[in-house]
Amino acid sequence: MTNLSQIISEMTLEEKAALCTGASAWSTTPIERLGVPEMIVSDGPHGVRRVPDVHAMGAKSLPATCFPTASTLAATWNRDLVYEMGQALAQECLTLKVDVLLGPGANMKRTPLCGRNFEYFSEDPYLAGELAASLINGIQSKGVGTSLKHFAVNNQEYERFRISAVVDERTLREIYLPAFEKAVKSAKPWTVMCSYNKVNGTYASEHHQLLTEILKNEWGFEGLVVSDWGAVHDRVAALKAGLDWQMPGPRPREVQAVVDAVRSGELAEAVLDESVRRILGIVFKTAETPKNGTFDSAAHHALAQQVASDGMVLLKNNGLLPLKNPQHVAVIGRAAEHAHFQGGGSSHINPTRVDVPFKELQTRAGDAELTYAEGYPADDSFRQDLIDEAVGLSQSADVAVLYIALPSYKESEGYDRPDMDLTAQQVALIKAVCAAQPNTVVVLNNGSTVAMRGWIDAPAAILEAWMMGQAGAGAIADVLYGHVNPSGKLAETFPVKLSDTPAHINFPGGNGEVHYGEGIFIGYRYYDEKQMPVEFPFGHGLSYTTFAYSNARVSAPTFKDVDGLTVSVDVTNTGARAGKEIVQVYVHDQQSKLVRPQKELKGFAKVDLQPGETKTVSIPLDFRAFAYYHPGYHQWITEAGAFDILIGASSADIRGTVPVMLESTLDLPCLLNHESTIREWVEDPRGGPVFEPTFQQIKANMNKMFGADEEEGRDNGMDMMGFLLEMPLRSILQFQERAVGKATEEILDGLLGQVYS
Ligand code: BGC
Repeated sequence: MTNLSQIISEMTLEEKAALCTGASAWSTTPIERLGVPEMIVSDGPHGVRRVPDVHAMGAKSLPATCFPTASTLAATWNRDLVYEMGQALAQECLTLKVDVLLGPGANMKRTPLCGRNFEYFSEDPYLAGELAASLINGIQSKGVGTSLKHFAVNNQEYERFRISAVVDERTLREIYLPAFEKAVKSAKPWTVMCSYNKVNGTYASEHHQLLTEILKNEWGFEGLVVSDWGAVHDRVAALKAGLDWQMPGPRPREVQAVVDAVRSGELAEAVLDESVRRILGIVFKTAETPKNGTFDSAAHHALAQQVASDGMVLLKNNGLLPLKNPQHVAVIGRAAEHAHFQGGGSSHINPTRVDVPFKELQTRAGDAELTYAEGYPADDSFRQDLIDEAVGLSQSADVAVLYIALPSYKESEGYDRPDMDLTAQQVALIKAVCAAQPNTVVVLNNGSTVAMRGWIDAPAAILEAWMMGQAGAGAIADVLYGHVNPSGKLAETFPVKLSDTPAHINFPGGNGEVHYGEGIFIGYRYYDEKQMPVEFPFGHGLSYTTFAYSNARVSAPTFKDVDGLTVSVDVTNTGARAGKEIVQVYVHDQQSKLVRPQKELKGFAKVDLQPGETKTVSIPLDFRAFAYYHPGYHQWITEAGAFDILIGASSADIRGTVPVMLESTLDLPCLLNHESTIREWVEDPRGGPVFEPTFQQIKANMNKMFGADEEEGRDNGMDMMGFLLEMPLRSILQFQERAVGKATEEILDGLLGQVYS
């Protein structure tokens, strides 16, 4: 065990400051005389982007497996498989001499327009947190570190380097932080990467509340916080906030600024030492695992295909799929020849090989004839000739398979999507081909939702294949031919149109700010509340078999919040093929003081079933499954009362509802103050009894003033009691001061004194 305190005590101030800044684009500063090795990091998240020379930026990276991006991973809802992919990623890191892989990204898909959605998991924090934790656990199980990013509230590319995400405390805690919280608490990533943006006016890199109070103190994060590349503006302020390691380096001026700040007393050396301690801790931890060996690229390619297969979402199928051995298949769309399997930007991997969708289809098509037409060009020009050619081919075929990939100018890191649409050429192509050939299946490659209303009725089937990684072509072909029964489900809602989306009127913001005006209502939470029709709901995905749910039950109909409960349901494969079902558990709070979403995902399981087979699925729900974050108490609270446990095949396909009764064990502090309303006084467990005599007097005075019938309490054409309840006690006392004969503040102070005594 390395004695870090000993090393720190022997380090010069200059060495400490230098350690807190990168030596290069991808490495830490080694200190030979003290035996401190160099640590190497690389992007991430769905492959290893290791440049040959880590001391240089921008070179082409070494070949590595390009696994499916998070868009596909999320749709698998498969913790075990994601863990396995993590282990394979780690093996490649060991081979390519990478100590820390920069990923996963756990930001929420707040809007379909975020250019980087393909790198993020979901619109739901629970699902994102579970899968991020699985990936981290898989990678770190092999002695390779991870960097959970981008912390926090980085949900768009527009002005990502400076925009301030204006988000209220409850929304932050319930939507934008939980995926990070889950991953930090249960998977302990070795590093966390702060985001570029500001959060409520302060750069994430200088955000003491986020980096130190919440991440390190509250969640117990023991690793190091690294800046996103170029996210540091004021190095000293960042250190004070808890940003340990600035990247990229070298940055001699910032190093000197840190030295000067310590010398002048502006920065306590203890603060610097704490960052040094955290960095050394991870540097030595990574050094424990030798970086050597090889990886089996064929096996990893096969695993990449397996993940892609598991994440394919069959959105629509009128019976065309699986294909019934058509003799002539028209294969249309550039993406059939040029697989669109990853997104642009820092996550771009140099793949070990890339399967071609057309060829993969051919190997499964037996002696059927496959013909190809490009369908749409690489650029944004409109080419009617390509459409005409595709229509000609389709007419003479038994089936048309249309490979439609969203072009990179419409989706990438660095900029947001201009709209939710396919290109005009692609839409025209789909319509024209489907008109000529009713047996058409559309295969989509994209990282987030696309609008379909204009063409959705035309194809017989739609397969969402995401950015499916280098081996995704085989997964598509397997699903089309029925060698794989599709089992992915949507980790994000497919809305009907852009203007329906929750952040629409607040996106992308302007004047340096983006307001998260929709609050906790993102994704299905919003569509549920608005009762708004969507194209495909969160959690949706078809199979070639059918599943029946029965015997939904809970371990205890009445339970204490701290005990939680277990939900069970029997799931039967009622069709003729083996298949996998994703069972989803949502929680609905029947009544709460603050508004809550209609339902929230709190558990899920993916279960494999042979035809006719039944399995019991049991899903535990803990305290947090029932709690919400109360900004008044600044904590997660439960409220005693009735909840419904909803067990569904999707968020819109609930197969069983079990009512339960929660007993809250919380002893919450009293929130009554000089501004509290009559209702708050009456309903408060401590304030109610204290307030009762005053309340009686107020009511009597009210009745005297307005001459109302005591029983009815109605006058002036309104419900006097309703009127009274919404008024602050202070205001009503001010009106009644003369009748009561006592100063308002004196009465309030007296009541509050009794409550807080
Ligand atoms: C991205 C990070 C990435 C880093 C290093 C940044 O621009 O936001 O996700 O890890 O670059 O490439």
